[in-house]
Amino acid sequence: MMATRRGVTQQKLQGLAVAWLWIVAGGATLTGCDSGAVTAMAAAAGASNVGGSPGAGGNATATSGSASGGASNAGTAASDSLAQKYADYFPIGAAVGNWHVDNLSDVLKQDFNHLTCENAMKIQDIHPVEGSFSWAEADRVADFARQNGMKLTGHTLLWHRQAPDWMFAGVTAGDAASLETLKGRLKAHIEAMVDRYADVVDNWDVVNEAISDTAAKQYRDGSEQSRWFELFGSEEYIYWAYKFAKDALEESAAGSSAGKLYYNEYVVTTKADKILKLLAWLKDDKGLKIDGVGFQSHENMTWPSTTDLQVAIDKFKTAGYKVKISELDITVYSDYSMGSFMASPALPFSAELEAKQAKRFADLFALYRKNKDVVTSVTFWGVSDDNTWLDNEPVAGRDDFPLLYNDQHAPKAARAAIMAF
Ligand code: XIL
Repeated sequence: MMATRRGVTQQKLQGLAVAWLWIVAGGATLTGCDSGAVTAMAAAAGASNVGGSPGAGGNATATSGSASGGASNAGTAASDSLAQKYADYFPIGAAVGNWHVDNLSDVLKQDFNHLTCENAMKIQDIHPVEGSFSWAEADRVADFARQNGMKLTGHTLLWHRQAPDWMFAGVTAGDAASLETLKGRLKAHIEAMVDRYADVVDNWDVVNEAISDTAAKQYRDGSEQSRWFELFGSEEYIYWAYKFAKDALEESAAGSSAGKLYYNEYVVTTKADKILKLLAWLKDDKGLKIDGVGFQSHENMTWPSTTDLQVAIDKFKTAGYKVKISELDITVYSDYSMGSFMASPALPFSAELEAKQAKRFADLFALYRKNKDVVTSVTFWGVSDDNTWLDNEPVAGRDDFPLLYNDQHAPKAARAAIMAF
């Protein structure tokens, strides 16, 4: 548990071995999620430089919620709804939990029409003991969505992180009987989740982060903390997760799995070809075509470029898949600007930084709008800067400012910038 200078305790910060990384390779930055992967990624990438220059700077219009901002609630700039503004484009989502419903319900109702549980639906959180569920927080978010006409992303049915030990207990790699036990547990978990939330979830992150961080390797395996791969001995587990999810949905209502099965990943611009290979294997070898790919989109101020994002979007579109922006935030730091990890010193959120970030958000949203035929939703990984996972990753206790609302819950320049079109 870490407390930042804002005094917000980040809940459920798991595994301090886990870091969120920005590794730069000849103009490309890889964002990775397991500190063990740093060396391999850097080596594979031949890391050199990340354009640490501040970029074009901002011509975004500052609002009442600017860096100096004293507003304690949404001011004039926030009087319109972000979700309404984007009604002809795609739903606008936020990752939330109890804290957000307690502290930001008016902002959620005003600006968002889609929600994701930041942690509450992960197996360890919602199913901590076999057959015993902790529904309360996910139920609260789901009820808030139902009451306000919003839909949810089901995040996530299978992930190598936040996966409880009971799921894997007694299972031995290569032992067919114990593998059946593991499959049975996964199936029971997925069925319980679908049974409870199928009415309000319009897309499921069935599998999260299964692709390797190492350039030459296709799948995340045991050396990259995937007990799923390690015990199955292959990527077969991915197929079973989709099969169980699809079957459970079809069981709840025939045809209802259509459009809902997603694969979610980070640094998609660098992993796109590997993800396409996974999708082709599912479709051609296993006979199960899923619907789309979530670009997590934990971006920084300069990487990835909108050009590279467009290339990746086009690849999935051409192959017949939808794209969603599933975990958007924009860190103000570039810890990998020298090619290897070096924690940038903590910054105050200056007016200059705010304008630069607003411009970056505006550029990304212009790209998303341009691709509205294929982009099915855009979700922010949080709402306000006083509660972001980036306060603790990759540097514990360093305040970051990656979201649309500031510490005082006033709209930042970024919000005005993505409304200005
Ligand atoms: C993060 C949460 O925001 C943190 O609170 C938690 O400690 C770790 O997980 N990719 C994902 C998300 O798919 O589930 C992660 O969420 C961020 C990276």
